[in-house]
Amino acid sequence: MTIVSTLPEVVTVRAPAKVNLELRVGPRREDGYHDLATVYQAVSLHDEISVVRADSWQVVPAGPYCDHIPTGEDNLAVRAAQLIAERWHIDEALSIRIDKDIPVAGGMAGGSADAAATLLACDQLWGLALDREELTELAAELGSDVPFPLVGGNTMGSGRGEQLTPVLARGTFEWVFAVSGTGLSTPDVYAEFDRLQEGTDVPDPEVSPQLMAALRGGDPKALAAALANDLQEPAFSLRPELRDLCEAGVDFGALGAIVSGSGPTVAFLTASHEAALDLSVSLAASDLCRDLRRARGPVHGAHVVPGPRGGGSR
Ligand code: C5P
Repeated sequence: MTIVSTLPEVVTVRAPAKVNLELRVGPRREDGYHDLATVYQAVSLHDEISVVRADSWQVVPAGPYCDHIPTGEDNLAVRAAQLIAERWHIDEALSIRIDKDIPVAGGMAGGSADAAATLLACDQLWGLALDREELTELAAELGSDVPFPLVGGNTMGSGRGEQLTPVLARGTFEWVFAVSGTGLSTPDVYAEFDRLQEGTDVPDPEVSPQLMAALRGGDPKALAAALANDLQEPAFSLRPELRDLCEAGVDFGALGAIVSGSGPTVAFLTASHEAALDLSVSLAASDLCRDLRRARGPVHGAHVVPGPRGGGSR
C-alpha cells in the first residue's frame, strides 16, 4: 500500500496575547538577562499568522495594528520561519501574513505570539511533526516570551521566563487593556529596573502564595489584590502618566490595575463582563489612553485555524 501524504498550501495559526499576573525580577545576570518568577495568563486578543510558499521572503501586514508591524527580516515571525528552514535544511521562502490584533510593543508579547504561531504553522506546512518540546526549545532561542503563547492558559515562567510549568487554576477573568500611543522598549525598562535597584540587594524572584491561592480559588477580588509587577516602577519612571492611568482605572471601578509586562499597556481586572464594559466607557471618556481592548483569560495557546480572520486575501 502506498501512503500519499500531501502537504498543505497554506496554514493559519492563531496565538494569544499575555498578561503577567505577577512578575518578579531578580538581579541582572552575567549574560545581561534577569532571572524571573512569573505567572502568565493568555488572554483573548489574538494574532493570526498565515504562511504560504513564495519566491522571496515577505511579510504581509493586516488587522487593526498592521501599520506598526516591521516587514523586514528583523520581524520575529520571519526569524522563526528562517530558524526552522535552516535547522531542517528547507530551501524555500515564505510569505507570512500577520493579522495583528495584539497591540505592538505594548508588553503583551504580540511579537512573541507571532513567532510562536509561525513555528507551529511552519511545522504543519513543511510536515515536520515536531513535538511540543522541540517547538518550545526553538521558541526559547527566539526570545524569553516566545514559548508561552505555544502553551497558553495560566502558566508559571522561570529562568528568563522561558521555562514553563502549568498552574492549578479555575475561573475566567475579565480584563480591560489600556493601550498607549507609543511602545516601550523591553531592554530600556529592564535597564531602568537595574538603575532603580542600584546599591540594593535584589532578592531571588518568587511567585507569592497569595497569587497561587487566588488562581486556585478563581476569585477575581483575591487575584486583583495579588497582582504585582517589579517592572511597574521602572515603567512609571519612564512614563509617569501610566501611574495616573492605573489610579484612574481603580477610581472608575477596576478591582486592580497593573502594567502588563514591560508596558506601556495597563491591564485592569474587573468583576464581570458588564463591569469591564462600564470601565471601558469611563476610561474612553477620560482621554488617558489611546485605545481600549476588552479580553478574558485564560485562553488556549497557539492552534491551527481553518483560514485567516474574515477570509482575508493574500
Ligand atoms: O528574550 P528577549 O529577546 O525577549 O529579551 C529582550 C531583552 O529584554 C533582553 O535583551 C534583556 O535586555 C531583557 N530581558 C531581561 N531578562 C529577561 C528577559 C528579557 O533582562 N528575563
